[in-house]
Amino acid sequence: MEEKKEQEVFSMPRIGDPAPEFKAVTTQGEVNFPGDYKGKWSILFSHPADFTPVCTSEFMTFAHMEEKFNEANCQLIGLSIDGLYSHIAWLRTIKEKIEYKGMKDIEVTFPLIEDIKMDVAKKYGMIQPNEDNTKAVRAVFFVDPKGIIRAIIYYPLSLGRNFDELYRALIAMQTSDEFGVATPADWQPGDDVIISPAGSCGTAQERMEDSDIDCKDWFFCTKKLDKDTVLNKILKK
Ligand code: BEZ
Repeated sequence: MEEKKEQEVFSMPRIGDPAPEFKAVTTQGEVNFPGDYKGKWSILFSHPADFTPVCTSEFMTFAHMEEKFNEANCQLIGLSIDGLYSHIAWLRTIKEKIEYKGMKDIEVTFPLIEDIKMDVAKKYGMIQPNEDNTKAVRAVFFVDPKGIIRAIIYYPLSLGRNFDELYRALIAMQTSDEFGVATPADWQPGDDVIISPAGSCGTAQERMEDSDIDCKDWFFCTKKLDKDTVLNKILKK
C-alpha cells in the first residue's frame, strides 16, 4: 500500500485582505503588527536565515535605502526563523565587518522579528515546504495605512530581491491612491499614467476627442502626470 504523507496546511494572506495580526519580539523591542503602523505604509519581509550571504546583501541594501522608504511614509520590518541573540549578533557583524558594493558601517535600525516557532511565518505563508520547511522564503508584503495587504512578492531562497523595484512598487501604489490612476509596465514617476477604462460609449468617445488624453484605442488611454506633482504629494505627506 502506498503511504500517504500528511502535509501541514499553511495559510496565505491575499491582496485586499487585512494583514494578519501578531505581536512579536524584535531587535527594536516588541511590535504589534499592523496596529503599530496605522497611518503609515509598511513592508513586512522575510528572509531565510541570519549569517547567510544573499540575506546579508539584502539587509545591507534595504538598510542603505531605509531613509528613502521612510520619506515615502513607509516603515520596514524584517523576519527570519532565528532567535533574538542571533539577530543581534548578525546585525553587529554587518555593521562592524561587512563591506559590500561600496556600502560599509551599515546599521540596521528597522526591527527584525525573532520567529523561532514560525508563528508569524506560518500566518503569512512564508514557509513553503517544497522549497524549505524550516527557512522562510523571501516574501514581501506591502501593507497600506489602513492595514490592508496591497501587494505580495515571493522569491526563492537563492534569489536576492531588487530593492529599486520594491521602492518603485510602493511609489506606484501611492500614486494610484492619490491620483486615481493606474501605472503601466515599468512606470516611473514622470511617465504617463493610465486612466481607468471608459464605462460608457459616451465617455469612450469623449476621451478619444480630449486633447489632454492620449488614447491608443478607446480602452487604453494615458495622460501626463508630472514627476514633481507625484513626488511633492507623496514625499511631503
Ligand atoms: C543566503 O541568504 O545566502 C541563502 C540562504 C538560504 C539558502 C540559500 C542562500
